[in-house]
Amino acid sequence: MKLTQQQIETFHTEGWLFLPELFNPEEVDLLRREALAIYDQHRPEVWREKTGAPRTAFAAHTYNEAFRLLGAHPRLIGPVEQIFGEQLYMHQYKINAKSAFTGEVWQWHQDYGTWKRDDGMPEPRAMNISVFLDEVMPINGPLLLVPCSQTAGDLKASHDIATTSYPLWTLDDETVTRLVKEGGIVAPTGKPGGVLMFHGNLVHGSAGNITPYPRKIVYLTLNAVSNHIRTPTRPEFIAHQDFAPIRPVDDDALLRLARSPRQAAE
Ligand code: SIN
Ligand code: MN
Repeated sequence: MKLTQQQIETFHTEGWLFLPELFNPEEVDLLRREALAIYDQHRPEVWREKTGAPRTAFAAHTYNEAFRLLGAHPRLIGPVEQIFGEQLYMHQYKINAKSAFTGEVWQWHQDYGTWKRDDGMPEPRAMNISVFLDEVMPINGPLLLVPCSQTAGDLKASHDIATTSYPLWTLDDETVTRLVKEGGIVAPTGKPGGVLMFHGNLVHGSAGNITPYPRKIVYLTLNAVSNHIRTPTRPEFIAHQDFAPIRPVDDDALLRLARSPRQAAE
């Protein structure tokens, strides 16, 4: 899949781009079922909120067939290859739960802030491209983005591990206030199957979810191969060290899996 020139320009100006319903209901239903089965497993890759509800499942492309296919899907790899003009490898892979009633906050941050400081990534030539597995609404903890904030570069950040179970390099209130005065805040919403891509330096976060509606989103962090990380400090399942270029699967690979006899029987 290829972005139009207009979409590429929007991405470069705003720092983000939303592609509604890029995956169809059959594909998303399969991924949603598989995500729930993964959250039920007790394994080191599944991190939980203080309540025990799932927060994130790392590296599902390495142990689940549906998420393996999603991690090499041409509808995700194509647009990011186009932006970076280079082949990609998977730096990180997360299925974030933002569970009904208990899903907690993700503080304001830039993704590249963590990739640089914790993983030794040379440049912000990596980005998150995400797939909505549930409907993302204004009320169930959508991602909050500060448009154009990617132009501020790599901002001063501090390592606040106390607030949630996931350590992040977070931004201070003054910095966020200044950038929001300039760019405002947007919260892209949409049906399951929508895809959101955003620049590694775009300032973002999300509030807690106190509604009965879960908000699962899968994030592929795709990095240009030449920009591979140099000084990893995090476990391999959080910051991958397999820098082999991703070879995209066929566009209908997920649909074929959803329609396979084993899946149909479940
Ligand atoms: C992230 O910023 O990495 C995740 C935020 C979210 O899922 O709400
Ligand atoms: Mn982030």
